[in-house]
Amino acid sequence: MYKSIKNAAVLSAAILSLGACNQASKSNQQKMTDSTSQQAKIPDSSGFEKNIDGKQTHLYTLKNKNGVEAAITNFGGRLVSLLVPDKNGKIVDVVQGLSSIDGYKKAGSSYFGALIGRYGNRIAKGKFTLEGKEYTLFKNNGPNTLHGGKVGYDEVVWDAKQIDSTTLQLTYLSKDMEEGFPGNLTIKVIYHLGDDNGLNISYEATTDKTTVVNLTNHAYYNLNGAGSGTILNHSLQILADNYTPVDSTLIPTGKIEPVKGTPFDYTKPATIGSRIGDANEQLKNGKGYDHNFVFNKHADTTAVVKVVGDKSGIEMDIYTEEPGIQFYSGNFMQGTNTMKYGKDDFRTAFALETQHFPDSPNQPNFPSTVLKPGQVYKTSTEYKFSVVK
Ligand code: GLA
Repeated sequence: MYKSIKNAAVLSAAILSLGACNQASKSNQQKMTDSTSQQAKIPDSSGFEKNIDGKQTHLYTLKNKNGVEAAITNFGGRLVSLLVPDKNGKIVDVVQGLSSIDGYKKAGSSYFGALIGRYGNRIAKGKFTLEGKEYTLFKNNGPNTLHGGKVGYDEVVWDAKQIDSTTLQLTYLSKDMEEGFPGNLTIKVIYHLGDDNGLNISYEATTDKTTVVNLTNHAYYNLNGAGSGTILNHSLQILADNYTPVDSTLIPTGKIEPVKGTPFDYTKPATIGSRIGDANEQLKNGKGYDHNFVFNKHADTTAVVKVVGDKSGIEMDIYTEEPGIQFYSGNFMQGTNTMKYGKDDFRTAFALETQHFPDSPNQPNFPSTVLKPGQVYKTSTEYKFSVVK
């Protein structure tokens, strides 16, 4: 029998060694402006104990042999915290999140840390046709459907089973016609924290009717530490020679265009802020970066994205089997939510959502997102952490 290991506020030795920080002056504590002021800890589990539609929610903690910790709730399968060491060995929480399920519910349309489905990203005008039949979805993002519709997988309670101290399994049955999508979709997601300081998220799904599937995770990262200010000085590299430009409602035009000579060229490391203010129609459409990058051909052993926090030296490398990634620079963050370490201010975290391309069900030249009975949807993404001195 597997037993839920709920976060019992068991702080690692590394965190206890932050005693000095705990003594910091009150004004320092309030400032929270650099990576040294955040007092990284996993939120108290009590905010995650809830019964929602007859299902119990908890906060689960994974811990590897290096003391790296991840906290995940089965409400929306959300990654709540990720505690990793910085260049000085200090533990930093790199995931922007909230301290309770009530907080996550209130911040709903931001999708903090959540598992996203049935279709991650946008479907134009909330419609698509499959095997000659038109399906209509709920439009929750202007004229379009975003991240699954009215109640996506980010808002449902997943069944959780803690396999061992580094592995959490989440399952969910998404019923036929739930949010307008055909087919009973049986989903299994596994969060695994490796001893190489990699957080691997693997997804598997089967259906009993032809459907479309695009699953991802919508964690917001700040590698200097959540609540430590702007992400504009983080360095970013994406192995993508192309991206999919969008219209003003963020639906791809259908073209796959080169990044060369545009602010979307991250083939070599550049800071997130270096060109974000450029006069560029695509940046205007996204209110910053909110675009799908098309990965160059790569092996799954190649890091396709590298991000480095300028203050912490924490590097995050992404490995994935997906053909693309949505880079979202926190353009809609408005400081309206009280997060674990202060407010969710403008561009103080970014999301990198591995995915098939937005609106693929309506875009014949994009890789297919169709899943048929008898087929198995299987994909995985790893976020690996190290430090640059
Ligand atoms: C996705 C979208 C963005 C925005 C965020 C949440 O990344 O692409 O436009 O909606 O989710 O705020």
